[in-house]
Amino acid sequence: AQTAPFVVVIDGPSGSGKSSVSRAVADRLGLAYLDTGAMYRALTWWCLDQGVDLEDTDAVTAAAESMPLRMGTDPTDPRVDVGGTDVTAAIRETGISSVVSAVARHLPTRAVLIAAQRECIERCSRPGIVAEGRDLTTVVAPDADVRLLITASEDARLARRARELHGGDGEDAIAATRDQVVRRDRDDSAVASFLEPTDGVRLLDTSELDFETTIAAVLELVERARAGV
Ligand code: DC
Repeated sequence: AQTAPFVVVIDGPSGSGKSSVSRAVADRLGLAYLDTGAMYRALTWWCLDQGVDLEDTDAVTAAAESMPLRMGTDPTDPRVDVGGTDVTAAIRETGISSVVSAVARHLPTRAVLIAAQRECIERCSRPGIVAEGRDLTTVVAPDADVRLLITASEDARLARRARELHGGDGEDAIAATRDQVVRRDRDDSAVASFLEPTDGVRLLDTSELDFETTIAAVLELVERARAGV
């Protein structure tokens, strides 16, 4: 019989560094990687492509059910494909980022994507998987081997996103990023609570940590879980 995959789930707000950390950890451990935020983004892209009203719960849920989505789970190149179109880059554009919360707000829609996420986690192509998002530790995979909430102060998150999106963390770049980070986290946290860890979830505050130190801390947690201590 096939052994159950080793499952690491990481939640956190936007700009916490959870995506780059999750990918690096999956890559170093030879695990698969699942970006659940990319699924909400792909659905948003699909709804816009199909002319679906993003406020219409039933229509968005039907779109989620019929979406021909293929999620790449290679941490070094996680490509997202919808019906033969590679949307990996398109789903990162501001036009998607600014409206994705509206799609993620519909509970019946979430149920469809959550079922797909659970299936992907169960059937992953490698001996285990690192999956990241907002409600993985609480709703999608509360029984995961490792559950982690990665946070960072608002200033640190704004500065990181500004560097990512605008190539610098000057005043203008920070102002341009504020809506992306602060408004979206407020909207998103109304649906899934990811600002405080629930019972049994480890909290890692990366405000003062550089990338390598963060990776080392996560790898240590994973090693301990694997060793059963
Ligand atoms: O992590 P991200 O910015 O790519 O996520 C995109 C949106 O999807 C974000 O606004 C919140 C939502 N999301 C969610 O509601 N639940 C998840 N598990 C992952 C993302």
